[in-house]
Amino acid sequence: MNFTAEPMHARPRPQEQLERLFAGGWPEFIFHDQETKLHIGRVRELFADLELVLLDGDEPVAAGWAVPLCWNGEVDDLPAGYNDSLARALAAYDAGRTPDTHAVLAAQVHPDRQGTGLAAKLLTALCEDAARLGRTRVICPVRPTHKSRYPLAPIERYQTWTRPDGLPQDPWLRTHVRMGARVLAAAPRSQVIAGSVAEWESWTGMPLPDSGDYVIPDGLSTLRVDRAAGSAVYTEPNVWVRHR
Ligand SMILES: CC(C)(COP(=O)(O)OP(=O)(O)OC[C@H]1O[C@@H](n2cnc3c(N)ncnc32)[C@H](O)[C@@H]1OP(=O)(O)O)[C@@H](O)C(=O)NCCC(=O)NCCS
Repeated sequence: MNFTAEPMHARPRPQEQLERLFAGGWPEFIFHDQETKLHIGRVRELFADLELVLLDGDEPVAAGWAVPLCWNGEVDDLPAGYNDSLARALAAYDAGRTPDTHAVLAAQVHPDRQGTGLAAKLLTALCEDAARLGRTRVICPVRPTHKSRYPLAPIERYQTWTRPDGLPQDPWLRTHVRMGARVLAAAPRSQVIAGSVAEWESWTGMPLPDSGDYVIPDGLSTLRVDRAAGSAVYTEPNVWVRHR
């Protein structure tokens, strides 16, 4: 099959094709992060050309996007995670600094095409785009796709779990590592999503009758509910990887 990658916004695309590509894959609560909402509009506008789509003929089969930021290559200087990457990209832009790093913040493979290696093709295209723009480093705060099966495990431990062949147990981390990426560090507070108990009940589809910690569908960690305050908070852990 002949796959090509191009900027998502290079041409108009049929809405129904995009809806199929982006159908599913994300829990509802992820769309209610107030900190993301502070930055995302400006980020997606300023860096729209860093969104790529992978085409099979004319059909979009995968998409991903990145932000440009400044990072000195040391673990200590990594952004705290997804939200901090948005803030760091805007800070570099506003200060007129030349970004040296491409942070790939999201990737999506068409639901009918997952598990067929398209994710690696998409990541390769994003890395090539970074090189074309003279950015020497490519990093990703990976949302490990099987972490929701182990919401009680600390991300610092989860990121070390490997199969007998030495590759990560987590399939999405495995795709990165198989491409030659290195696991750099855990990002235990990549996103912090707070809402009222009623909001969380609607986002999770679960009654939350008591205060305490809850395992929630597609949560990579648990949800902490405080009934007296009427609020609940979820902290999303990710794993930083660096591509070659
Ligand atoms: C994360 C995502 C982009 C990975 O794409 P992908 O196409 O599944 O990736 P790969 O083809 O590299 O598959 C990775 C591994 O999972 C397995 N896998 C993934 N989906 C599978 C499926 N539906 N059936 C069987 N195996 C599957 C693959 O076989 C592969 O295993 P292997 O390493 O043993 O060969 C994709 O699952 C997705 O779009 N998820 C929804 C959005 C998301 O979570 N994005 C990531 C956060 S940024």
